[in-house]
Amino acid sequence: MKIFVINGPNLNMLGIREPDHYGRETYADLVKKIEDYCEKKGIEVELFQSNHEGALVDEIQRAYGKADGIVINPGAYTHTSIAILDAVKSVSIPTVEVHISKVEEREDFRQISYVRLACVKTITGHGTDGYLEAIDFLTDKK
Ligand code: DQA
Repeated sequence: MKIFVINGPNLNMLGIREPDHYGRETYADLVKKIEDYCEKKGIEVELFQSNHEGALVDEIQRAYGKADGIVINPGAYTHTSIAILDAVKSVSIPTVEVHISKVEEREDFRQISYVRLACVKTITGHGTDGYLEAIDFLTDKK
């Protein structure tokens, strides 16, 4: 079982950016949390973060033939990117959308999620635990 965890723009700023929405854990803390969790559960995991839409598309394509599941938090590209939606559709890998904050209680422009149309599940507002819940969901399905 192999999972790709893909994070979009500004998630490298976790711990610094808007802690009221995103908490105090850093991106390095998140990486360690996911790696430790996966090691304990015997799951292979690859983590990737980029601030660039095309790099995120490249990483989703790289998952083809390699990953059994994708956990993706596309950051602000959630609300704008048809390219990321199409990439997830292209690879046909079960994908869970994760948002650290409770996006449904935030601004109107955060209420659209393109990637959601290609996802088997969405988890919002559970902080970084949402990534672990997404991994559980993908691995329990197997
Ligand atoms: C986010 C929510 C998005 O609206 C925002 O642009 C982000 C982070 C979240 O994890 O809550 O960058 O995806």
